Amino acid sequence: MKNKLLHILTDANQYISGQSLAKSLGISRQAVWKCVNTLRQEGCVIESAPNKGYLLVSLPPHINEFAIKQHLKTSVIGKKLIVLDTVGSTNDYLKSLGGDGCPNGTVVTTREQNRGKGRLGRSWIGNRDENIAFSVLLRPQLALRDVMPITPLAGLAICKALRKTTGLDCRIKWPNDIIVGKKKLVGILTEMSAEFDAVEYIVIGIGVNVDQTEFPEDIAHKATSILLQTGMYYEKSRLLATLLGEIERVFTRNRLELPPDTLKEYVALCATIGKSVAFQRNGHAVSGTAVDVTASGGLRVMLSDGTVLTVSSGEVTVQGIY
Ligand code: BTN
Repeated sequence: MKNKLLHILTDANQYISGQSLAKSLGISRQAVWKCVNTLRQEGCVIESAPNKGYLLVSLPPHINEFAIKQHLKTSVIGKKLIVLDTVGSTNDYLKSLGGDGCPNGTVVTTREQNRGKGRLGRSWIGNRDENIAFSVLLRPQLALRDVMPITPLAGLAICKALRKTTGLDCRIKWPNDIIVGKKKLVGILTEMSAEFDAVEYIVIGIGVNVDQTEFPEDIAHKATSILLQTGMYYEKSRLLATLLGEIERVFTRNRLELPPDTLKEYVALCATIGKSVAFQRNGHAVSGTAVDVTASGGLRVMLSDGTVLTVSSGEVTVQGIY
């Protein structure tokens, strides 16, 4: 009922009388008033005036299903959308749905994660309503050896969408962190379930720092948020819908590979290229200069003796960034 009421108020975009709302919804005026109060408690700003009725001024500022759906223009990604209040990790939650056969493109998001996961066993911490945490499930018809491009494609999608929406000079730190200047704005954790040589599903988990003004001490020097960079509050539900739109575009256009034009786009936005980098290989520290990215998303690094190595995963430290 409250969603129907919200739809009517949103479409009207002006005062609507309690009587006409009651008629459209087939409930009493008293029930309309109760519904309005519930929506107010959930964060909607609804004005009421005698003889005029109710006016929706704004939807809740936090992630909410109604606002996401209002802005979502995709046909696969987010068609099944689950919006939670609190969860351990959206990746873990979606992986359990993946095992139960949820459709390709299912999205889980939440107002709060209390056991958010980062790459390489780290944790991903975020206060309630300060960030966007979401996971997307894909069921690509792929062999295991062909999954590599998924992570850079997701990074490219997020980077492009954030550049367009916020005007920030977002760049990709290979393979998929999104940075502004030298600080991290977005982290991506891709997980999958696969049989011997066939992928069952892939879960791409994305955390965007939106409204944080401070970070835990250990990451404060290398983390930033959209608010810190722009001084502006972005509507998270709308931003999420935009990110999902770009994810759908990148994934449907590229059939899970990095064709030359997409690779060119990726390389142009990749802050790692041309920089001195360091990584581990067979337990040894190796350093060189990042020269290129391969069609499957690997980073090509030239060592001082001219040898070129391709790094396909793991942690790469980029001089001057982190
Ligand atoms: C990283 O940079 O280390 C990756 C961070 C990924 C965080 C996101 S938030 C949504 C999804 N759920 C998780 O538990 N992790 C990812």
